[in-house]
Amino acid sequence: MSPLPTFNAENIFSSDEIDLVDQLVNSVGIHDVDDSGSYPDSGKHGRYSGKTTANNIHWNYHRCPEIEKILTPKLEQLLQRQLLVTDAHILEAKLPYLVHTDFIHNNQGHVPEYTVIIPLDTYDSVTVCFNEWAEDYNDFEIFKQSYQGEKKLRIDPGFAVDRLNHIHPKDIVYLTVHDTFAWRKGSVFAMDRRYFHCSDNFVKRGLPTKRAIILWTLSSSTKY
Ligand SMILES: [Fe+2]
Repeated sequence: MSPLPTFNAENIFSSDEIDLVDQLVNSVGIHDVDDSGSYPDSGKHGRYSGKTTANNIHWNYHRCPEIEKILTPKLEQLLQRQLLVTDAHILEAKLPYLVHTDFIHNNQGHVPEYTVIIPLDTYDSVTVCFNEWAEDYNDFEIFKQSYQGEKKLRIDPGFAVDRLNHIHPKDIVYLTVHDTFAWRKGSVFAMDRRYFHCSDNFVKRGLPTKRAIILWTLSSSTKY
């Protein structure tokens, strides 16, 4: 089945709504430091090995009605579907994500649908969503191994140098850009969790950190 439609929308939430969600998550959420594991290439021998990649605050989306009340109606209207969230967290990224999908994450037998990104402030940073996608795994290395298409630079070279200089040039030749999402307070990006995506290299551009609400949704109707 081909990927779900992508939504890249500005001014969905007011600054006050975003600040209130930020406050509420801080009061109910569980803080953790991400120093490996969930970042691609962060394993024992990976490039990010031993580094703090992010500080996260997790909360149980469907057990916090105060937060749901703010987020759910507008997201359901935008996505035109019922929202079932399997994982909700505030991401405070310290290092730029490398290329990965979000397919495998606590799916509890349901079909994964959307990754939703809601920046908590406005940053000179983008999320890059590629046309390439994969089912059943998150790891770009697996995609590369089974890739049979043409390997050549199809991303604007200026953009690649400016924003994607943390991605190895040998990896960029597998990819084409589907959409870029500028991190603005109140904006929402929703992409099919099967799409490969990554952050831009915000650290190289002088931004020490960036924060966003991240939701991983499931189909509320379909089960495996
Ligand atoms: Fe992701």
